[in-house]
Amino acid sequence: MTFGDTLTDAITPWIHVLAVTVWVGPQFMMFVAAIPAVRTIEDRRVRAKVMRTIVTRFGWLAWAAMAVIILTGISNIFQVQDIDPNVDIGSTDIRWFHWFSGKMLLVGVMMALTAVHTFVIGPRQLALNEKTDVDEAEAARLRRMSMIISGSALLLSIVVILFAMILSDHGYTFTER
Ligand code: HEM
Repeated sequence: MTFGDTLTDAITPWIHVLAVTVWVGPQFMMFVAAIPAVRTIEDRRVRAKVMRTIVTRFGWLAWAAMAVIILTGISNIFQVQDIDPNVDIGSTDIRWFHWFSGKMLLVGVMMALTAVHTFVIGPRQLALNEKTDVDEAEAARLRRMSMIISGSALLLSIVVILFAMILSDHGYTFTER
């Protein structure tokens, strides 16, 4: 194997991991800095406007990163199969298959939670914030739900990264159960 082959093989895993950082990193940033900072804005109208700009741009960034993660992830599957033609990674006898299925299950749940947050809870929060007579109890309830759902999705993303690290230890995952 030449250095050129190694470099070519590195491209999609590299983009995959890069997109994962773009997916996960800004979520920490939102939790730790951006949302708490926006909440300190006293003028209700300005606060609602800044919040809408930040979450809309964050949403586009995150879902674009997820599209890249999925496309490069599919490409990674073929590359992993090419590593050892004697190992069928689609076989239920092989550990890789089980860890990969577990990873996909977690990715599915994580994406469902993120979709509920992006397309249901988030828009309701933004609309409520933009009203002149805000129902404070309803706002607090939505905020709590929003934190629980987005926090769980972030936690799942972190567990998915652990599954990915175990998957890539082929000395372990390319063997029979
Ligand atoms: C449909 C979605 C996805 C598919 C099809 C996919 C597929 C893959 C595959 C086949 C690998 C190579 C594993 C190996 O070396 O045996 C990989 C690596 C990796 N995946 Fe994914 N993945 C997906 C989503 C994700 C998500 C959502 C995350 C994190 C939040 C993630 C994080 C990683 C990381 C960090 C690696 C690098 C592991 C390494 O080589 O050291 N993946 N992925």
